[in-house]
Amino acid sequence: MISAHDVELRAGARLLLDSVSFQVAAGDKIGLVGRNGAGKTTLARVLAGEGQPAAGTVKVGGTVGYLPQDTRVGDLEALAVDRILSARGLDALLVGLRAAEHEMASTDPSRRDAAVRRYGHLEERLSVLGGYAAESEAASLSASLGLPQKVLRQPLRTLSGGQRRRVELARILFGGSETLLLDEPTNHLDADSVSWLRDHLRSFRGGLVVISHDTALLEKVVNKVFYLDADRSTLDVYNLGWKSYLDQRETDARRRRRERLNAERQATALQSQADKMRAKATKAKAAQSMARRAEKLLAGVSADRAPDRVARLRFPVPAHCGRTPVTARGLTKSYGSLEVFTGVDMAVDKGSRVVVLGLNGAGKTTLLRLLAGVEEPDAGEVLPGHGLRLGYYAQEHETLDNERTVLASMRSAAPDLTEADQRGILGSFLFSGDDVAKPVGVLSGGEKTRLALALLVVSGANVLLLDEPTNNLDPASRAEILGALRRYQGAIVLVTHDEGAVEALQPERVVLLPDGIEDAWSEELGDLVALA
Ligand SMILES: Nc1ncnc2c1ncn2[C@@H]1O[C@H](COP(=O)(O)OP(=O)(O)OP(=O)(O)O)[C@@H](O)[C@H]1O
Ligand SMILES: [Mg+2]
Repeated sequence: MISAHDVELRAGARLLLDSVSFQVAAGDKIGLVGRNGAGKTTLARVLAGEGQPAAGTVKVGGTVGYLPQDTRVGDLEALAVDRILSARGLDALLVGLRAAEHEMASTDPSRRDAAVRRYGHLEERLSVLGGYAAESEAASLSASLGLPQKVLRQPLRTLSGGQRRRVELARILFGGSETLLLDEPTNHLDADSVSWLRDHLRSFRGGLVVISHDTALLEKVVNKVFYLDADRSTLDVYNLGWKSYLDQRETDARRRRRERLNAERQATALQSQADKMRAKATKAKAAQSMARRAEKLLAGVSADRAPDRVARLRFPVPAHCGRTPVTARGLTKSYGSLEVFTGVDMAVDKGSRVVVLGLNGAGKTTLLRLLAGVEEPDAGEVLPGHGLRLGYYAQEHETLDNERTVLASMRSAAPDLTEADQRGILGSFLFSGDDVAKPVGVLSGGEKTRLALALLVVSGANVLLLDEPTNNLDPASRAEILGALRRYQGAIVLVTHDEGAVEALQPERVVLLPDGIEDAWSEELGDLVALA
């Protein structure tokens, strides 16, 4: 149970939330939504006790499991399975048991006796906590999230960003906390895992706050919606499921528009009356108070901020390259005994759009990593064509420099552009005005995604390898960013679960994994995207 009382949130100088109160009790399944940068992550951090509100109090009763948007893992040398078990303190118990076992072989009788007693205690604790069964429970939970046994036995250091994120999610779910705070839990998950997660959260009996742009998840899971309105710095609480919330919000927006029109009409009338009266000395005072009333009226209604329209500008032309900047022949990759794919051929033509499709574990990310050269194939080769310049978007934003500002990042990626053009391109990736002066480190998840993509587009790269580029983006930003990517003149190789993204990019070719069949794109393949 979490209760927030008169909570005010700020980010730098900006007011994100002005004095809100609410509760998260058992059985509350709350969808926390709002556009990128609205302050959802900031609020979740505060509820999790990882940040302080600018004013007000947050009281937490019981245990809370918090999945942050940016995965942070502790000890990278720890095994994935131990990381998951640590959620119930089981990892330390198991390590203690192993140590006690070792001591029990000691020749010193007093040490041996102490070890036996300790072993007994630990064993008892272990059985209270669900004992050895918990280990298999953790394993089955992990399997549902696309983490096979083999991966669980690996140290976190060797796992991909997506796998680490799954480990963290498994850890939180395994922890059995009374309240869960999940910030974008479906990022990095394949469709099978997402649908398992939807069911799991639906039957979860505790309190839940979930931040997600996955409308199918919201529809299935939530019974309340908190809409964080960035323009009004308020949290609108809807005690409704997702579908009814959408209807209600539409009605609310229409009502607010009507109220605003009314207020504007009245204010204009008052104002013009005041102007007339001001001319007469005897009425000056009345005129002033009328003008004040007009102001008040306008202040009382919220402006529905018109979405920032962005000028259609021209992106820098990618560096010159030959007809086929990348060719791959006979690519084969396995991890240990697990064969991911064998003998994949593909050719990426200048300016073409290629979608990589394949079921969970078919090796889509692996293929991109091979093409990007961050991983070596077991057999086969990636042949760079004449003038190839690659840009790789790998979801983790690790290419961003947290210390630089947004504008400085753009300047170093595209030093040849004028500042006006740099700002213009940032604008088409939805960074306007003061946003460009922010240090990258404070950006929200969606903002980081946008910046990383903007930097790739201007980098002169003529082939972009994009791995799930629409994760984290709210629907409006997603549409804008896809529009920007469509105008990019280089080639794009895309891995995604997002059907809309595929539609927007209008691909010409598709590569189907694990067989590596390359073919012309056709509409019917669209149905496969979400399955993949
Ligand atoms: N120190 C700071 N100075 C200025 N702005 C900041 C600072 N810290 C955070 N911000 C801004 O506060 C806003 C809220 O960030 P937050 O991460 O909470 O958004 P969010 O709703 O989770 O967005 P997303 O959907 O992209 O994850 C963002 O616009 C971010 O850039
Ligand atoms: Mg966020």
